[in-house]
Amino acid sequence: MAPVEIKDKVFWVGALDWHIRDFHGYSTEKGTTYNSYLVMDEKIALFDTVKKPFLSELLHRIRKLTPPEKIDYLIVNHVEMDHSGCLPEIIEAAKPEKIFCSAMGKKALLDHFHREDWPCEVVKSGDTLSLGKKNVRFIETRMLHWPDSMFSYLPEDRLLISSDAFGQHWATSERFDDQVDRGELMAHAAKYYANILLLYSSFVRKLLDDVRALNLDVDMIAPDHGLIWRSRPADILEAYGRWARQETRQKALVIYDTMWKSTESMAKAVFSGLFQEGISVRMMDLRSSHRSEVVSEALDARALLFGSSTLNNHMLPRMADILTYLKGLKPENRLAAAFGSYGWSGEAVKQITQVLEEMKFTLLDPGIRVRYVPTHEDLRKCVELGKKTATAIKAGVSEK
Ligand code: FEO
Repeated sequence: MAPVEIKDKVFWVGALDWHIRDFHGYSTEKGTTYNSYLVMDEKIALFDTVKKPFLSELLHRIRKLTPPEKIDYLIVNHVEMDHSGCLPEIIEAAKPEKIFCSAMGKKALLDHFHREDWPCEVVKSGDTLSLGKKNVRFIETRMLHWPDSMFSYLPEDRLLISSDAFGQHWATSERFDDQVDRGELMAHAAKYYANILLLYSSFVRKLLDDVRALNLDVDMIAPDHGLIWRSRPADILEAYGRWARQETRQKALVIYDTMWKSTESMAKAVFSGLFQEGISVRMMDLRSSHRSEVVSEALDARALLFGSSTLNNHMLPRMADILTYLKGLKPENRLAAAFGSYGWSGEAVKQITQVLEEMKFTLLDPGIRVRYVPTHEDLRKCVELGKKTATAIKAGVSEK
């Protein structure tokens, strides 16, 4: 695949990772891309690199445009190794005059590569770099999603190179948002936000305010993963505003794992109560729903209900996994409750409830516990929990 010119003399030279299915715990069922951009001006500049195994793809695309040794500048918007993995080889090949990065980026580069001799030049928000006819303006985006992260803005091209922000893990031969199905694109973008950026929502809110205040003229947003936003880039900015405000809708998840289907019966009864009240519900059996999918669905869900049997005095391992993952991502302002079956000790519901309290969720019930197999009366209580949740959702949520 040849380089793709995304703006006049600005080229995508990244790599496609079709077969990756696990990105440090994030399920990437359609692979991903590592986007790298080469600007061919009087000075030639490469913005980020790609994951190490894809060095030859990156070099192949660069060579179609220029010998690598002609590259003058490297811009490191982000040091995570999916973007910096090829830096040693690219630096060796290009012998760049300068490597531009944030102050935190310089520290992270040293901690990753231990090369004091690299010609790093620290830039901060507002600093500019002339490439000849084009200029680059740097915007630090600390904690989006690493301390070193920054954006590069090319005013002459109205182009924002946005590092991980606004990305999607999706490998496609297409490079632009208007070449793919919009619904699928937004679903990938939402999954990316939920699994990577949700924790940093307060920083996203501030960044969006700051970018608005800068009054940047942007008609293309080029992230480091996935499709480039050239048609209606405002769509993804609007979605980020909504996700960063943690806006939810009249939707609930029933997330559960079960040993002998008693907890599953309870989950179905909870679902029934919610459904009867007209709430949008997703049943998420953790034996078939990956943690990334659960978190994606949780992004706009007002209520999260968790069911687990007790095994060896603990909640089931998959429930511990999703609670650990979800707690780290810090969803806010959710309604929640726990339920589950047990044999003789029954710790799971209490343990889940404790985590829900730590997450500062609003508890709708102290927790429903059933010994071994639920009776009709037990299941009626679960239906009631679903109905009670529906009432709370309707009381607390204004639909978008
Ligand atoms: Fe795509 Fe934070 O690396």
